[in-house]
Amino acid sequence: MQDVLKIGDDTLKEVINVKNVAARVEELKEEIRRALAGEPLVAVCVLKGAFMFFTDLVKDLGVPLEIEFVRLASYGAGTSPGEEMVFSKDLETTIKDKNLLIVEDIVDTGRSMDFLIRTFSARNPKSIRLAALVDKEERREIELKVDFAGFRLKKGFLVGCGMDYAEKYRELGGIYELIQG
Ligand code: IMP
Ligand code: MG
Repeated sequence: MQDVLKIGDDTLKEVINVKNVAARVEELKEEIRRALAGEPLVAVCVLKGAFMFFTDLVKDLGVPLEIEFVRLASYGAGTSPGEEMVFSKDLETTIKDKNLLIVEDIVDTGRSMDFLIRTFSARNPKSIRLAALVDKEERREIELKVDFAGFRLKKGFLVGCGMDYAEKYRELGGIYELIQG
C-alpha cells in the first residue's frame, strides 16, 4: 500500500520509499566508481536541496574526493527563461584539470544546471558529470544530460530527500509528491 502523510493542509503521497532510494543510491555509486576508474573527483553539492542525496552518494564512495558546496540564486523571481543566475556561495577550490561531479536534488527546467555547467566549463576542468536524485522531464527547457539519474519521473511536485516546499519536508527519507489541499 502506498503511504500517504497528511501534514496540515498538505497531503504527501509516497512515490519512492526510503529503502528504494537507498538501493538506487548504491547503484549510482557503483556507476560513478566505474566511470571514474580510480581518478580523483571534486564532488560538488548544490545547496540546499542536494544535501541528503550528496551525503549518501559520497559516503565511502571509494574514489579520492574533494568535497565542495555551492549555492545558486537567481536575480528576481527566477521564473523567466534566460534570467541569469549567480552564486550566493561559490566553490572554494580551483577546478582546472580536475574531474567534477555536480550533485543536484532535481533537474526540472534544466536552467540551474545549464548555468552551473557553463560556468564551471569556463574554468577548464578535466571533466564535468552531473548526478541528480530526480530527473523530471515534463518542464525541461534546456537539453541536458544527467549522467547519473536516481529516478526519471515525468511530473509532479516532489518533496523529501532534501527537496522542499517552502523549506518544508527536506528531512523526509523517502520521495513524496505534494498534493495541496
Ligand atoms: P531547474 O528548473 O532545473 O533550474 O530546477 C531548479 C530547482 O528547482 C531545483 O534544484 C529544485 O531546487 C527546484 N525544484 C524543481 N522541481 C522541484 C520539485 O518538484 N520539488 C522541489 N524542488 C523542485
Ligand atoms: Mg535545488
